Order: sequence, then C-alpha cells, then structure tokens
Amino acid sequence: MTFPWLARFVPPMDEAASCRIESTFKRIMADRKASGSKNSKDFLDLLVEQHDKCTTDPEYKRLGISETTIIAQAVNFFFGGYETTSTILTHLFVELAKRPEIQEKIKEEVDEILDKFDGKITHDAIKDSEIPYTLGVIKEALRFAPPLLRPERICTSDWECKERGISIKKGTVVMIAAWAANRNPEIYDSP
Ligand code: HEM
Repeated sequence: MTFPWLARFVPPMDEAASCRIESTFKRIMADRKASGSKNSKDFLDLLVEQHDKCTTDPEYKRLGISETTIIAQAVNFFFGGYETTSTILTHLFVELAKRPEIQEKIKEEVDEILDKFDGKITHDAIKDSEIPYTLGVIKEALRFAPPLLRPERICTSDWECKERGISIKKGTVVMIAAWAANRNPEIYDSP
C-alpha cells in the first residue's frame, strides 16, 4: 500500500492457499450445520444463515450475493480481526513488561471483576464502568501503536479548507496518517 508499484514484484496469495482457506470455512460451516445448534448466535451462525440464503432468497440472487461473497466476508472478518488484535496485544504486552506497576493495577482490576462476576468474564464484566483502568490502557496502546496505520477514503466531491490552504479533488485517495495524528500535541496533551 505504501509503494503500490512494488506490488508487481510480490506474488499474490497462491491458488492452493486460497482454496485451503475456502475449504476450511466450508468445513467449519458444514460442522456447525451438522451439529444442529443454532443457539450460540455467534458469527458462525450468522455466516451459515447468510450462506443458506444465497441459494434460497431471491433478493440475494438479484443482488448477486453468492457463496463466494459470503466466504469472502468470512475471510475479511478473519484477517480483519486476527492481525489487528494480535498486533495491538503484542505492543500492549511489550509496554506492560516495561511498566510492571501498570500491569499490577490491571491485575488488581481484573481480580476484582472475577470476584464480582463469579469468576466469569462476560460482556457485563468488561464494561467501561467495571474496568476503566484496563480499557484506558488498551485505548492508550491503540493510540500509541495503531494496527491500522493508514486508513484510506476516496474523496467524493471537490473540497477545500481555506484556513489551512488545502484542497482535495473528487476521486483523490485520502490517507489518514493515524500514527502521526495519534502523536499530535494539538490533539493529545503530552502525546
Ligand atoms: C484491536 C483490534 C482491531 C482494530 C484496531 C481494528 C481496526 C479497524 C479499522 C480502523 C477499521 C476501519 C477500516 C476502514 O474503514 O478503512 C476496521 C474495519 C473492520 N474491522 Fe476491525 N479492528 C479490530 C478488530 C476487529 C475484529 C476482532 C474484527 C472481526 C471479528 C474486525 C473486523 C472488521 C471488519 C469486518 C471491518 C470492515 C467494516 C466495514 O466494512 O466497514 N475488526 N477495523
């Protein structure tokens, strides 16, 4: 993304790898269907539901939502959720290793909610009001080491900011420098 011309030298994901991912998702969906449990209401249930609709629902057919579309969304969730989470946890743990006093405070907060919620970590237990310090530390890690360095958007109409002397033409790809913005003293005190 940073040097698009370099992509010419990078091989795309090979066919065997793509097929493997596709067949893995299909197998997982088939297992869930075979187990007959639709009570978990998790991502996999939604996926199976959508997958069924693409052969039965006329609206899906009209919109051209095929099995491939559904699998592609699953893959999107997998890559979107995996790399981002592992990257931020890596940065977080490195910082915590350097600052054991912060790690200790997080441990105290987590121990408290485990006592309060019978040892179970539920959505209620990890609300902002229950673990404000821990969530604050995670948000600070996200500020400090944003896994998505450079979100992009395509400008949909000509735009001008006279105050800053910036103009952007319709159709331009705008990249938001998250890493730099997150360290901008105009936005964050003592970044
Ligand atoms: C700390 C962890 C995460 C970070 C920092 C993160 C960051 C982001 C960001 C910045 C975007 C917007 C990208 C854009 O619109 O240009 C995004 C979109 C998305 N993320 Fe995450 N994400 C995280 C975890 C996850 C997880 C766990 C999942 C799935 C289980 C996930 C699935 C997605 C999907 C599907 C989109 C696209 C949404 C859309 O179509 O508008 N992300 N994420």
